[in-house]
Formats: sequence, structure tokens, C-alpha cells
Amino acid sequence: MARLKAAVLISGRGSNLQALIDACGAPGTPAEIVLVLSNVPGAQGLDRARAAGIATLTVDHRDFAGRESFEDRVTSQLMEAGAELVCLAGFMRLLTPGFVERWRDRLINIHPSLLPAYRGLDTHARALADGVRFAGCTVHFVRPEMDAGPIIVQAAVAVRGDDDAESLAARVLAAEHRCYPLALRLIAEGRTRVENERVLIDGCFGPAAIVLNPDDGAAATGA
Ligand code: GRF
Repeated sequence: MARLKAAVLISGRGSNLQALIDACGAPGTPAEIVLVLSNVPGAQGLDRARAAGIATLTVDHRDFAGRESFEDRVTSQLMEAGAELVCLAGFMRLLTPGFVERWRDRLINIHPSLLPAYRGLDTHARALADGVRFAGCTVHFVRPEMDAGPIIVQAAVAVRGDDDAESLAARVLAAEHRCYPLALRLIAEGRTRVENERVLIDGCFGPAAIVLNPDDGAAATGA
């Protein structure tokens, strides 16, 4: 069966990109990455893509007069690469409604919180300040509002009493690296559909397949 052609948009480190690259490299994976595009020249993720033999491109937003012209260039590159799905992975540009609608239900993002809580930046520090017991991450279809859209996969991460933003971010990031490949796989297998702005997963009637709880049981034992 033909594999789903995915493009990944990045701005920096690219650890989620690496998780997607690794997942797509596994035999039988129903998706392939056809392009990694960065808006930041020299982003670390570009090196990861090159090391995996994936086509890379930099489209520097500073070379464009406005968001629309930048996005028009991004779209034309995505089309040229034959992208059927676009994955935002630490892509630090806000996208216009025009771009988001152009790729409606074919544009996904990963965010380091249990959406709809903690949209925006500094999610871990804000969660700790609120004293929440669970943090986590979300992969969702993108809508024009920031960090909003139908939820595909989430993982909960228990907050520990001695966490700071850095330690919590590290555990959430490990969960992200499991969630994003899972979401990509579900989409590539044609198992997701959006109905009334909720994602339904074919063959999945309980939460087991789409809720990841990567906690090792430490919270339950009080350790
Ligand atoms: C991740 O925490 C992701 O959730 C957020 O930006 C960060 C990107 O990290 N959107 P990386 O570039 O994938 O390492």
C-alpha cells in the first residue's frame, strides 16, 4: 500500500521530528517523510533530516514582506514535495487562517500540555504554578485559534513534588516522542475522522489505544 507522504515543519531542535523519522524508518510504517522545512536557517532538526537522507528546505520568514507571502512559498514547496499531511513539530510561527484552512484536517501539531489547558508558551511553569497533579501533551488537528483543534492523542504525565519546569518538560517531552508517531500512524492508516470537531478513531471504542500514560507507576506508589 502507498505510504502517506508527510512533511514536517520545524524551527529548532527537532526532537519530535527525530521521533517521527525513527518511526517512519520502522518496517511496515504507513507514512514517509518527504520534506523537512525550517523557517530558521541552521535549525538542528535540518541536520537530523539530512542524516536520515530526507529532503530539507529553509524558507526564512524574514525574507518575505508578510505572513501570506511566506506561507504561499511554504505551500508551494509542500505541494511540490507531494505532501499529503503537514506535521508542525516545534514550528514557532503563527499561521494565518488562510494557511490553516488550506490544509484543514491535513495539518497537525504537538503541544506540551493537556489541551485545552495551557495554550501558548511556558506551559510547564504555568502548570507548576497552578499546582496541577497531571501535565502532559496533545497532538491535534490545527484550527486558526492558537493551540486549538480536534484532539487525536494525549498523554498524561504525573507532576512530582520536586519538579521544576525543566524536569517536568523532560518527562513531557519523552511522552511527546511516543504520542506524535502514534498520531501519525493512526492518520496514515486512515483510521481518523473529524466529526463535530472531535476525532473518531476507527476500531477504537475505548481510550486504550489513544491515551498514553507513560508514568512508570512512581506516583501510584508514592515514590
Ligand atoms: C515541543 O515541546 C513541542 O511540543 C512544542 O515545541 C517543542 C519542540 O521541541 N510545540 P522539538 O523541536 O521537537 O525538540
